[in-house]
Amino acid sequence: MDTILGGAEIIPECARLIQSGEVVGFPTETVYGLGADALNEEAVKKIYVAKGRPSDNPLIVHVPNVEEARKAAVVTPLAEKLFSVFSPGPITLVLPKKDCIPYTVTAGLDTVGIRIPSHPIAREFLTACKTPIAAPSANLSKRVSPTTAEAVFDDMNGRVPAIIDGGPCSVGIESTVLSLVGDPTILRPGGITEEMLRPYLPTVKLFSGKVKIAPAPGMKYKHYAPIVPCILFGSVRGAEKEYLERTKKGEKAVILSRKKNVPYWEEKGFLYMNAGETGEEFASNIFRLLRYCEKLFDVILVEKPGLGGIENSLMDRLSKSCGGKEVE
Ligand code: TXA
Ligand code: MG
Repeated sequence: MDTILGGAEIIPECARLIQSGEVVGFPTETVYGLGADALNEEAVKKIYVAKGRPSDNPLIVHVPNVEEARKAAVVTPLAEKLFSVFSPGPITLVLPKKDCIPYTVTAGLDTVGIRIPSHPIAREFLTACKTPIAAPSANLSKRVSPTTAEAVFDDMNGRVPAIIDGGPCSVGIESTVLSLVGDPTILRPGGITEEMLRPYLPTVKLFSGKVKIAPAPGMKYKHYAPIVPCILFGSVRGAEKEYLERTKKGEKAVILSRKKNVPYWEEKGFLYMNAGETGEEFASNIFRLLRYCEKLFDVILVEKPGLGGIENSLMDRLSKSCGGKEVE
């Protein structure tokens, strides 16, 4: 299969592909998605095939507005309120599903994750499709989520008929998945932080614990992993030691550093990349840098995120990328 890659001009063609049951890569403000008509089970199955994804991992349904959300899920007054504050934007609400959403999308659950993305091309695409779009991140299963169209092309060339290029994703990590079925629970921290939710949900908590059918299978599968080892470091001293040991063994190492430590690495003459100053910048750069570095280096040393806000979401992703490997 030839994969076409183009900008907003291919949206009408991509909408036709969706309506004929095909899968299309498209940008959102968080990460790129791999979309199919959520009402067409055969089309949805093609997503799992293209990704090589286990089918017990539910997909998020993307819609252009709350009116369309109401067709796919029971939008409670609380959900209505949260959509009005945080959407369009990087949040997914888990709600009771309506009958039109097949269990192939929800992996057998009676709930569905609904997201209204803010990226202008995502919105134009969703409107043109005239149907809700089921979409996971557009990476091969277990790989680092794609935040550029080139990254989607790397994983999906020949596996899907089209990819829409909307430039680099601004948020850079996936949406916050918030369950409103039962006590409000953050199943996956993301672009909207716990602190931002708290004024509306004073009792909101972060999911912890084990489940058989994963409420957010990010917890169950190895995820976000570069093809080379990736190690978190808590201090420049720890990173320096690891870098020198690796280099001595003949490995090519690189440091993903926060801006404030850049002068340190500059002075040492170590190979580094500036991952940004704020947590928001770090989030927006991290997956692109991991994908870039895995092609050039044998080991990636990543500065450990701080605490609170988006730093917690970064920590969630990076502890998975690093498979728990950490130095002082
Ligand atoms: O930012 C995002 O959310 C991106 C873009 C493309 O929208 N999508 C994304 O999809 O990250 P994916 O499939 O990689 O991650 C979806 C997460 C999974 O952890 C899944 O378990 C959870 O959302 N999820 C989806 N539906 C659910 C449901 N009904 N109940 C609980 N968790 C659900
Ligand atoms: Mg994913």
